[in-house]
Amino acid sequence: MTFLKEESYGTVKAFFLSSAVWFVIGPLIGFIDAVHLAAPDLLGNISWLVFGRTRPMHTGVVIFGFIGTALIGSAFYLVPTLLRTPLYSERMGKLSLWVWNLSIASGTITLSLGYSQGREYAEWVWPVDLGVLLTFLLVFYNLFRTAGGRQEKTLYVSVWYIFAALIYSFLIYFFGNAAWSPSYGAITGLPDAVLAWFYGHGVVGLFLTPLALALAYYIVPVVCRSPLYSHSLSLLGFWSILVIYTHIGTHHILQTPVPSWLKVLAITGSLGMIFPVMTVLINLWLTMRGRLGMIHADMGGKFVMAGLVWYLLTCLQGPLQSLPMVQRVTHLNNWVIAHAHMGVLGFSGTIALGGIYFILPRITGRPIFNRRWADIQYWLVLIGMAGFFMVLTAAGLIQGNGWQNGLAVYKILPEIHIYMILRASIGLLIVCGASLGLINIYLSLYGVRGKGDTSLDQQGKT
Ligand code: HEM
Ligand code: HEM
Repeated sequence: MTFLKEESYGTVKAFFLSSAVWFVIGPLIGFIDAVHLAAPDLLGNISWLVFGRTRPMHTGVVIFGFIGTALIGSAFYLVPTLLRTPLYSERMGKLSLWVWNLSIASGTITLSLGYSQGREYAEWVWPVDLGVLLTFLLVFYNLFRTAGGRQEKTLYVSVWYIFAALIYSFLIYFFGNAAWSPSYGAITGLPDAVLAWFYGHGVVGLFLTPLALALAYYIVPVVCRSPLYSHSLSLLGFWSILVIYTHIGTHHILQTPVPSWLKVLAITGSLGMIFPVMTVLINLWLTMRGRLGMIHADMGGKFVMAGLVWYLLTCLQGPLQSLPMVQRVTHLNNWVIAHAHMGVLGFSGTIALGGIYFILPRITGRPIFNRRWADIQYWLVLIGMAGFFMVLTAAGLIQGNGWQNGLAVYKILPEIHIYMILRASIGLLIVCGASLGLINIYLSLYGVRGKGDTSLDQQGKT
């Protein structure tokens, strides 16, 4: 079977190309969502395009399709490189991508047909869930066997993050999707909501975050040509995120009658998150101290740096908005949508793009096809994300304050209409950036030799 053929770095290449395709589709569906919110009647009543269907289609594709695919693809590069051994099976790697892509595609299509499990970020129906779970198993087995034959005995922190992410992702996906009881759902009442947010929160914190940090921990020292500032600090950050992040999902449902002890645990844990986040950021910033020019000169490094700044902002905002008095204004409005885009696109999505642009030249042996296009994509994503943040935060504050003053939800809609139009327009920048990125990544993989990025020639193959 040609699509499963053994080829050096074939798995990484296939994952990256798939991610680039999903990066066009996901934001495009997001744009349709935004059109719904800016002009609710424009798209009429086309059943497969109603908001209730396109919204989960959007989140599923961007989280799993775009970012998840790029980050798993990067893991297929990082583990063999860091452990100085070839991947156990390229064929199994490609098989895992096929199962993954088919799951995401069928999840999206079935949602458009109206089939949903009705749990946030777990909307795909159970046969799709089985595909996702199978992928996690295949990827884990492949990388675990790779680690088994390793030449390098020391496990660098990126390897820890990758294996933890795979184990946690499998578990939270299993529980969050109620995989043992597909027709009835998990449990009933409030415990079900707690479980759902243990999952929803874990998708970003235990799937995307560790995989993105694994990349940052690898790319920053390589680009700066400087050893990591502190390995002890890196492991402290690793263990503390696992201890704290796993049980704070209840901060999503503080306004419900869940037990008080659970709320207190969630809020104190959310504040405590500053510790693991700052250990990572301080460690990486001390590694790159005095070398920011080198980061800026490297396409991958540049994306990673931007992602880390978004990480800082997201994780300063996160603890703040987990305080009940703040949530009274920010909960259930566009403030949270701003935070969500900042974390998912700004932090993990931007680092995922950094991973693609950093690794591509190293696996193809030639520079990125067009460095200038990659730069344009960088700016489109950065400006788009900053625009999202400002517009949605402003809209959220207007909503929250209006509600506090007793105004009904519908009364405030005219006031935020302009923000919805702005959001849809800004979103187009991201869609354009993603389309340019797809062409660039495709040509970097299969086109003629590019002239743009000479950083690889300067740095050697690491
Ligand atoms: C890869 C890029 C993107 C990522 C990772 C992303 C991620 C997300 C996430 C996680 C949510 C759920 C937010 C929540 O429930 O709190 C969401 C919702 C949404 N996104 Fe995106 N998004 C991206 C690009 C876009 C683009 C380009 C647009 C177009 C304008 C867009 C428009 C929307 C809209 C309208 C919603 C629903 C908001 C609501 O329910 O009020 N997104 N997105
Ligand atoms: C210090 C770390 C963080 C804390 C304490 C935190 C806290 C929170 C809180 C309290 C909410 C719920 C807000 C509400 O509904 O009123 C929330 C929502 C959200 N957070 Fe974070 N956050 C953190 C980091 C992140 C990161 C790194 C990401 C992405 C990788 C992220 C993605 C999201 C998303 C997607 C939502 C929206 C969920 C939804 O309602 O659909 N967060 N966060």
